[in-house]
Amino acid sequence: MMLQIPAFLSFEQVRQFNEALHAQSWEDGRQTAGHLAVGVKRNLQLAHDNPVATQLGDFILQALGKTPLFLSAALPLKVVPPMFNRYEGGGTYGDHVDSAIRSVPGTPHRVRTDISATLFLSDPDSYEGGELVVNDTYGEHAVKLAAGDMVLYPGTSLHHVRPVTKGTRLAAFFWVQSLVRDDTQRTILYEMDTAIQQLTREQPESSATLKLSGVYHNLLRQWSDT
Ligand code: NI
Repeated sequence: MMLQIPAFLSFEQVRQFNEALHAQSWEDGRQTAGHLAVGVKRNLQLAHDNPVATQLGDFILQALGKTPLFLSAALPLKVVPPMFNRYEGGGTYGDHVDSAIRSVPGTPHRVRTDISATLFLSDPDSYEGGELVVNDTYGEHAVKLAAGDMVLYPGTSLHHVRPVTKGTRLAAFFWVQSLVRDDTQRTILYEMDTAIQQLTREQPESSATLKLSGVYHNLLRQWSDT
């Protein structure tokens, strides 16, 4: 499932992120690419121990915990601390699949990348190109969102970022290990949760709502690993 989370960051937060990020010194993104991806990756990233990147990444992690749409759709167990990238001057990232397991730098922790996330930080009118293109069973989806919007997509997908031919595209990206590894099961749970929330608003007294809520939790119990 591909899912957009609109206005994950406010206008003012986006402005503060941009101000802080533009002042940093950026490194060649190929340093963190796997051996297949390294040939197709041409962008810049902040070092994982850059203090501003750490601070902004922590802010994103806290905001994730307060975003019901993210919690319902991702059912997060572990999150790789967000990183930041920058595309300009034809910068691009050709077709690749993200590594299945990411180490959390400076810790013994490893995260299975069930879900990939991109948080767009640049005004889409300020650069040309830079669409995130994700392939799934229904074909190709090109995504270029407003600054502050986030997209989630299955970590299993082949994807690429089109060359940025004018302007600068800043983004944050990270991965989530979900309680539910399988994208199809996660999608079923998300749709069920959405329907139950609607029923809870519209028919709070209904015993069917209570029963369905029980089914949701029992499915989650069947399908989750911790
Ligand atoms: Ni990727």
